[in-house]
Amino acid sequence: MTIQEQRPAAMAARIDRWTDLVRPDRVHRTLYTETQVFAEEMVKVFGGESWVYLAHESQLPQPNAFVSVRMGLRPVLVTRDRHGGLHAIFNRCAHRAATVCREESGTAKSFQCPYHGWTFKNNGELVGVPWPQGYGEMDRAEFGLTRVTRVESYRGFVFGTMNADAPSVEEWLGHARPWLDHWLDRAPEGEVLLGSAAYRMGFRGNWKLAYDNAGDGYHPSFSHRSLLEMASRMGESKDMSYFGRTPDDGPMVSYSLGNGHSVIDQRPAHGDEPGSFWRNQRPQPGREFFEESIRAEHGDDADRLLDLAIGAQINLSIFPNLLIIGNQIQVIEPLAVDRTQLTWHATRIGGVPDEVSILRMRTQEDFPAFGEPDDQANFEEAQRGLAAPEAEWILMNRGLDVTEWQSLVDGVIVTAVTDELHMRSYYDEWLRRMREEVR
Ligand code: FES
Ligand SMILES: [Fe+2]
Repeated sequence: MTIQEQRPAAMAARIDRWTDLVRPDRVHRTLYTETQVFAEEMVKVFGGESWVYLAHESQLPQPNAFVSVRMGLRPVLVTRDRHGGLHAIFNRCAHRAATVCREESGTAKSFQCPYHGWTFKNNGELVGVPWPQGYGEMDRAEFGLTRVTRVESYRGFVFGTMNADAPSVEEWLGHARPWLDHWLDRAPEGEVLLGSAAYRMGFRGNWKLAYDNAGDGYHPSFSHRSLLEMASRMGESKDMSYFGRTPDDGPMVSYSLGNGHSVIDQRPAHGDEPGSFWRNQRPQPGREFFEESIRAEHGDDADRLLDLAIGAQINLSIFPNLLIIGNQIQVIEPLAVDRTQLTWHATRIGGVPDEVSILRMRTQEDFPAFGEPDDQANFEEAQRGLAAPEAEWILMNRGLDVTEWQSLVDGVIVTAVTDELHMRSYYDEWLRRMREEVR
């Protein structure tokens, strides 16, 4: 298949209500400002047509554990039953709609709705109705909590969809799967673990502003200038500074992975010698103590271990709401057309000394504290700019006609890191879901 053929195909031919709003090189501002578009996205893009990330299995480590999440705007409980089986049920009482659980996480064999006391097992079955004689003959089986139609887990990542006919999660991850595998296989035990707490940040802007940015290698040297300057004052560190030179000529690249997924690969900027991730990381106060201790204890293995304290140097975006950044998992949670929550989960790994885990936490605190506020400020300012109705378009044409940037590697397009191909590609998937096209 040629690159021309691989370009977002859904944008080309069809005439419908979206045709004028999503063009090959630009999208209309109303996709970020209109409540009707947002309401449709929350149904179709977030789980109506295809998979959406819900939770990580390590948040529900034992039988009867649960975690409260959202699937678009639908409040959802991801639960384990007493045998450890995984379920996703709407946190929405079958009686008069109140949420049946108001905790973020915990363990519960059943949920009793605080409003009128209906009780549901953690698999959603209705098991108790106060004073049932008021209902005459009642078939309780009809009034369980609504279930997310399909729930599948891939190596600990739990996804849900309301589409019974969606392809399997593995199929839908497609070319993103080997990248997720790579990220997980870095861990000596091949898995990551999330804690019960997370770092939550809200911004006054549309959720897509965050997804637009996740694959954006164009902005760092401007948006994150203060971070880059601080890092250069702290000593020799290549981390992110290569974004500031001429990033398109540099070794970093961006891959468009299909189905709305993409990845920025920063690893080539670091080289692959053991210890190179560690040496290129921005210095953190006090890390020398831990480095010395790891080197003293582990000798030749120290470089490998120290690299595990540093992020994977890939930014993997899995449409529409799961971002793998460094060693962290970031979840995009839309709240309203102009309000979004970003939740960062730090990860732990097994099979490493405690000192590596400590350094790993320090690394994971770094970007959400020093970099993410830069991005969020821009998201909010973009939303403010979008209020001007006469200026209609958001551009995504960078790299569109620079065909020498793009080549095919194993069936996916690889391109310069500042190319806006990631946006053009995910809008292809966005259109497919909004148009309810079957695969
Ligand atoms: S709304 Fe839940 S019992 Fe009435
Ligand atoms: Fe950024």
